Amino acid sequence: MDKVLDVQAEALQAIADAESLQALQDVRIQYLGRKGSIQALMSEMKSLPKEEKPAFGQKVNVCKQVVTEALEKRQAELNELALVSRMEEEKIDITLRGNDLHLGTTHPLIMIQQEIEDLFIGMGYKIAEGPEVEQDFYNFELANIPKDHPARDMQDTFYIDPNTLLRTHTTAMQMRELEKAKGKTPIKLICPGKVYRRDDDDATHSHQFMQCEGLVVGEHITLGDLKGTLEFMANKMFGEGRKIRFRPSYFPFTEPSVEVDVSCPFCNGKGCSVCKGSGWIEILGAGMVHPHVLEMNGFDSEKCSGFAFGIGLERVAMLKYGIDDIRNFYINDTRFLKMFDRFD
Ligand code: DAH
Repeated sequence: MDKVLDVQAEALQAIADAESLQALQDVRIQYLGRKGSIQALMSEMKSLPKEEKPAFGQKVNVCKQVVTEALEKRQAELNELALVSRMEEEKIDITLRGNDLHLGTTHPLIMIQQEIEDLFIGMGYKIAEGPEVEQDFYNFELANIPKDHPARDMQDTFYIDPNTLLRTHTTAMQMRELEKAKGKTPIKLICPGKVYRRDDDDATHSHQFMQCEGLVVGEHITLGDLKGTLEFMANKMFGEGRKIRFRPSYFPFTEPSVEVDVSCPFCNGKGCSVCKGSGWIEILGAGMVHPHVLEMNGFDSEKCSGFAFGIGLERVAMLKYGIDDIRNFYINDTRFLKMFDRFD
């Protein structure tokens, strides 16, 4: 009987001394396992006189129960301790300085592109896209610029082969869209994108730059519609109160053709260094789609008419943000690009 109490006391001590869940598991095996001390007591019962067996058996059962309960209690304690220490270890010091996250900023040209897109989407225009590696057919032929036309000189071209080139203007996309429409009106879209010309790069020229083309074709479309549309755009892009004026010009794909000036947003038309004293700044080329261009693309030029324009995005960005060298857009100097995060 004393032996049972000894084993029980020993087990309880071992349980109290166990400092980890693993140590506790070892104690469990040592006392309650199949080859453990308490099982061994059960085996000893065989050698006892018959009358002592029940009392001994009962004592061993009580011992087993006491040890099992003590084990469970200690296990709960150790679990709790493990949780507390894990919470200590994993504590986050929110007062520590974090790592800086270096986020990029939207490129100023993309900002202008998005601004123009938002503006025209608001007026119900669609946005069209087209390839930068273009066929001579769309860049020149359909735009009423045949092989020997002097206007080809105006757009010194990067040729890939005699019929393939890097598009020199977004007007190539205008021609693709006209062809796609197969004479069906109305058409109302803009096509922004990169264009390429064989220019020597300097402060105002770049061999690669961006344009946005606009095209509207339908019944009774007039030069007045073009003027109203461009005036609206000028006011949105350069601030309320802008006026625009048309000067006669020449483009093979429009008739009549105009060069469009906006009243100088810096001096309000009074004359300053930006507008070179004239009060006006040239911002784009435009015109009424040439009847021959409409006919070549399957439109009846007696029944419908259209206007088109092409605006250079670098020029707009340079005016808007006071940038004096076009090369800034393309050299990826992050000090320059970072300046635009406040406009983002
Ligand atoms: N394609 C012309 C250029 O790159 C710009 C232009 C002028 C586009 C008149 C047009 C337009 O759509 O009607 O210089």
